[in-house]
Amino acid sequence: MSIDWNPETKEFHLRNDRISYLVRVLENGALGGLHFGPALARERSYRHLSQGEFHGFSNRLGDPVALEYPTGGTGDYRVPALTIEAADGSTVLELAYVGHRIWPGKAPIPGLPSTYVERDDEADTLEIVCADTASGAEVRLSYTIFCDLPVVARSVRVRNAGTEPLRLLCVMSASLDLPDTDWDLVHLAGTWARERHVTIDRLQPGRRSISSFRGASGHEHNPFLALRRAWTTEAAGEAVGFSLVYSGNFLGEVEVDPFGTARVRLGIAPEGFSWRLDPGAEFAAPEAVLVYSDAGLGWLSEAYHRLYRERLARGAWRDRPRPVLINNWEGTYFDFTEEKLLEIASVAHDLGIELFVLDDGWFGERNDDTRSLGDWFVNRRKLPGGLNQLARRIEALGMAFGLWIEPEMVSQRSRLFVEHPDWAIGVPGRPRTEGRNQYVLDMSRPEVVDHLFAVLSDVLRSAPVSYVKWDMNRNITEPYSLALPPDRQGEFFHRYILGVYSLYERLMAAFPAILFESCAGGGGRFDPGLLAFAPQAWTSDDTDAIERLKIQWGTSLCYPLSSMAAHVSAVPNHQVGRVTPLATRAAVAFFGVFGYELDPTTMSAEERRGVADQVGFYKKHRHLFQRGRFVRLRSPFEGDGNETAWMTVAADSRQAIVGHYRILNRPSPGPGRLRLRALDPNASYRVSLWPATGDPIEQAGALVRGGDELMNVGLFLGATGDSPVIRGDFAARLFILEAIG
Ligand code: GLA
Repeated sequence: MSIDWNPETKEFHLRNDRISYLVRVLENGALGGLHFGPALARERSYRHLSQGEFHGFSNRLGDPVALEYPTGGTGDYRVPALTIEAADGSTVLELAYVGHRIWPGKAPIPGLPSTYVERDDEADTLEIVCADTASGAEVRLSYTIFCDLPVVARSVRVRNAGTEPLRLLCVMSASLDLPDTDWDLVHLAGTWARERHVTIDRLQPGRRSISSFRGASGHEHNPFLALRRAWTTEAAGEAVGFSLVYSGNFLGEVEVDPFGTARVRLGIAPEGFSWRLDPGAEFAAPEAVLVYSDAGLGWLSEAYHRLYRERLARGAWRDRPRPVLINNWEGTYFDFTEEKLLEIASVAHDLGIELFVLDDGWFGERNDDTRSLGDWFVNRRKLPGGLNQLARRIEALGMAFGLWIEPEMVSQRSRLFVEHPDWAIGVPGRPRTEGRNQYVLDMSRPEVVDHLFAVLSDVLRSAPVSYVKWDMNRNITEPYSLALPPDRQGEFFHRYILGVYSLYERLMAAFPAILFESCAGGGGRFDPGLLAFAPQAWTSDDTDAIERLKIQWGTSLCYPLSSMAAHVSAVPNHQVGRVTPLATRAAVAFFGVFGYELDPTTMSAEERRGVADQVGFYKKHRHLFQRGRFVRLRSPFEGDGNETAWMTVAADSRQAIVGHYRILNRPSPGPGRLRLRALDPNASYRVSLWPATGDPIEQAGALVRGGDELMNVGLFLGATGDSPVIRGDFAARLFILEAIG
């Protein structure tokens, strides 16, 4: 790995064994992009890959110059990465190279989460400084190349080195000009209860964007996009990924210009954003993580998984096995007593479950969703001995105790709102819009964050709490802060997220042993920003196994299994009314951080035996399910979507578990084969099934297949339509592969 600077040709070459990223200083001082893709030889110039100047209407000449961090107003008519309004009202900007610095390691970004290194030899960083002399704007572009991953992490800081105030109108975290447009745009779209469905569009002339203006990254689009060739598959072909380490309003956009180039930009959404930068002040934009894969979408995902699991997630729980939990939400909703919770916990403990999570409804007068958010003191009518008594009794059973909170919210019917009505976001003189009967607190105000830190610290100190589910159930309307002057209202959304991050940071520091799980009406804020604080997230409020196939598949494009909380819930399913077998619900939820979301006291003895078996199976293979290499095999988004298959493989390829799911059973299916990946071609694997089939060959452990056969010919699925084990619809089977010898 290295970063080279060639002063003669004025080129930077960031390189590791897999990728090269090349930037050059153009004749007029602007930065040109040369290449992001497969590794190229060092000590050679690639200057010729970018010719001309961006002045002189170059893109009219049919030879558009690839620009590294484009600005507007001087002849590049594509979308800019940076727009600054100077004191005279002009937005023309001409950034020119001033200097640079190269160092081993990686620096944090003030106030914002980012990827990191533990040792300086894990990555090298290049920082290029550019300036616009007329306005005094100074821009620092930071590039970190990781040693053994096809990753370049970019971030940007803008400083006002002049004497007049500046107004930032658009500060993208990354912009990348690609020399052709022969790409499909892959992104993750959805809404509540069907988050992150894979969506693929052919690039077309014009601009195509995904975004959020709701104050959170949102259920609708994820701050992630990828470009892939039409012929790219999971296992082969080129793909480029763009992921923003941010939880607020964002924009991801691809512009195809008339001359056959594509510009991708990713950063804070410029709509509704502006930032006053006084002389001497600096603004830090969030990190964008770029991945280049020459081995399909699978390798792209693997790079994100490894980086985000090991060098974005932080804290005591980063590497620890995550507990199997039971959450009472779908079991009781708001209607519970201490005794009822203990009954649930007691049965759950007998079944092997390790953590009991008390969800919404334990505080204030919260018996439905119309009141009490903000009143973070225990409801003694439900829990007469307080949280402490409940938690101690749960601990006495041998389980850990976890708690749900929704810090950023306030109900109109709450003490907090009576005391501090001005803390709720709203514009004076206009009505506030309620969402789920609640308002959003102004997290841009330090006194609100201080208050929440104090009251939540009291709660977390009052009982042995080892896990916190931090929810956020509505988006922002009437964005405005009473604490900001009129000319700073454009800063509100970003300051809100900075407030959320700072509360997380303080709580993490004060309670380092707590495992945080983020949540936002399910997966409405499932983004890399929050992974830096909460290493796992509630993937979706939709717990139906069949819906989860698409949700978990889509989520896995960018996020590791260790981040995806997935629970078995009761049937008929509460979101879609579907009745699926208990084993199928588990076989889907295993691929993530596993748990239950039901009342086990209402289950039959047979169902309980089933749960005990599932919990035992998951614990035995927990490492594979949470930290294995996740390989997608058969997509629920392709063909008729009737089948899905995926697998998780140990780092040394000696163990793997394959999940195969079939939605509708069809007569006379014929024998199916499923080609596996990431195995050792020279190893022999013993194949067994979960649930066990009772087949004598399988029971004798005699089903042995070579890794080469499993990958090149396939795993024989059998004429599954007639198998007594998976007769009927919504069937699932797991194949457990263990290398022998
Ligand atoms: C959100 C969460 C659920 C549950 C409820 C409680 O919808 O996603 O899991 O915690 O809030 O009100």
